[in-house]
Amino acid sequence: MVGTGYVGLTTGACLASLGHRVTCVDVDEAKIARLSAGRVDILEPGLADLVVRGIGTGRLSFVVGARAAVAEADGVFLCVPTPMGAGGSADLRAVEAVANEIGDVLPSGCALITKSTVPVGTSKRIRAMLGRADVPVVSNPEFLREGTAVADFLGPDRIVVGSDDLAAARWVGDLYGDLAAPVVVSDAASAELVKYAANCFLAMKLSYVNSIAELCERLGADIDLVTEGMGYDRRIGRSFLKPGPGWGGSCLPKDTSALVKVAESVKYDFRMLTSAIDENIAQRDRIVAKIAGACGGSLAGARIGLLGLAFKAGTNDLRDSPALAVASVLGAVGAELTAYDPAVDSGIDGMTVVDDPYQVAKDADVIVVLTEWAEFRSLDWGLMADAMEGDDVVDTRNLLDPQRILDAGLSWQGVGRPRVTRPKSLA
Ligand code: UGA
Repeated sequence: MVGTGYVGLTTGACLASLGHRVTCVDVDEAKIARLSAGRVDILEPGLADLVVRGIGTGRLSFVVGARAAVAEADGVFLCVPTPMGAGGSADLRAVEAVANEIGDVLPSGCALITKSTVPVGTSKRIRAMLGRADVPVVSNPEFLREGTAVADFLGPDRIVVGSDDLAAARWVGDLYGDLAAPVVVSDAASAELVKYAANCFLAMKLSYVNSIAELCERLGADIDLVTEGMGYDRRIGRSFLKPGPGWGGSCLPKDTSALVKVAESVKYDFRMLTSAIDENIAQRDRIVAKIAGACGGSLAGARIGLLGLAFKAGTNDLRDSPALAVASVLGAVGAELTAYDPAVDSGIDGMTVVDDPYQVAKDADVIVVLTEWAEFRSLDWGLMADAMEGDDVVDTRNLLDPQRILDAGLSWQGVGRPRVTRPKSLA
């Protein structure tokens, strides 16, 4: 397993738990030392336990340097980052560097498996780079969500394996043998495209929901009821229908941009996807406008308390977090920001990060919920109200119970839902 990020480490630890012998490799010596001692840095429920158990059984080990690790492997998974590169395309330098590094030491018949999200055509490119007819290249995209990666791995909706060498693809599919999930065996290009097609569909679904939420606000409807009514239609499904401050994280933003680029490369203008990306920026701007409205129109000098910084609950990942995107616009126009996130304790430019949610309320004109951490629901909102200067809560995740906010003497506004304001006579 080359790369010990959340995908590589989860895949490695889970495959070890299925009975395989797994060696995880990274270039970061300190990280390998910590992992060898059973210490996991990322917040991923169940992962640390699996790592400790894997080490205990002797089936999971950690080493620095890929060349030695792959010399006796039956299969090598590439789980290195493929960030957004120049112009929005996926940056494949890490994948190619590893393929180059290990190309001549891979045993004959060993499958080289791409787990990282790579543009269509990458398997072919790697094959050409390797120049080894005896090493099949297989695409095996992952569908793990951060925060539920172990559960997603052990209870997958499907397993996708694609290669020009179908026997090699099936062999990779069999590694997951004990998991009850359909296995889709395909050519390499189709497997590579499945990953983008799925993530981009999810992004479009969310942009669509955020647009419908905007319509709800303008038409006096309630997005929670609209999506409930939509979601019972099995063709639509009930999940991924929650509006928010926009979609983010380390996958959806980079994968949508990358697929637009892939489409451009074959002269297809993927307008539907471009619109979904534009809509995501518009959603952030609408949230900022809503906060400005709650501050009486001007953000300059406004004191804003932020609840949540991670791109979603259950993770400490800040990459492409919509919360940070909203915060940076607020900060740029002169708002004073104080933030709390249960999983984030490091300093962040442009804001004061505190370790107690009640400190966020101190003298705040407005409180903004940006990440859907359940614990925000059960805060003592009376105490929050006492500490605040103003009386508005902007809940970009529709997380809080509006009645409780109202009972605390505050006004609540969510996304796509009617605003709940305390009558003036009671204020
Ligand atoms: C996503 C996909 O869901 C995984 O299937 C995929 O494997 C992964 O990318 C990847 O390519 O590695 P992840 O980035 O962990 O997983 O996060 P999601 O749970 O998909 O959330 C993405 C964004 O959408 C977050 O900002 C989240 O807050 C937002 N979201 C999600 C909503 O605003 N509403 C929803 O109903 C669901």
